[in-house]
Amino acid sequence: MRFHPCGYPHPYVAVALVLVGVGAWAQSTPAQEAQPRPATKVEYEGWRQYMITCARCHGDDAVGGVMAPDLRAFVAKDTVNQTSFHATVSEGRLDKGMPGFKGVMSAEQIDAIYAYVVARAKGNLPAGRPKQ
Ligand code: HEC
Repeated sequence: MRFHPCGYPHPYVAVALVLVGVGAWAQSTPAQEAQPRPATKVEYEGWRQYMITCARCHGDDAVGGVMAPDLRAFVAKDTVNQTSFHATVSEGRLDKGMPGFKGVMSAEQIDAIYAYVVARAKGNLPAGRPKQ
């Protein structure tokens, strides 16, 4: 490295080093960090359906209630996806107090609830009524 007559690395070199450092720091920010944002149309509809049909047992904001578990934790499992979520909600677990919603809710409504719960699990939607 060539040194400036003043004895320190040339100012341009110092500036370049700082920029490289800032770039590395920005890239190291974890991608999974909560990024609150407005709801998509589908997520907003999912929130509405969730509040009407699921919240009385699973709690406001999908955080879990007195009688039913936190759905954010459920959708975060590797084994759970839109298809298995749909099956669980359609069939229910009648022996354990989870009603089946087949014939009560449409596939679109259940998929919208899934989108809402996933966005809650990722931290994209804060608690409360989502912004549109
Ligand atoms: C009458 C109360 C009640 C209502 C209403 C209800 N649930 Fe449940 N739900 C339960 C209970 C109780 C369980 C736990 C069953 C068990 O122990 O396996 C459950 C479990 C589930 C599970 C599996 C969670 C897990 O961790 O294994 C999903 C997914 C689910 N419910 C989705 C929904 C959705 C979506 C709605 C609204 C459309 C809904 N539930 C409405 C009572 C309810």
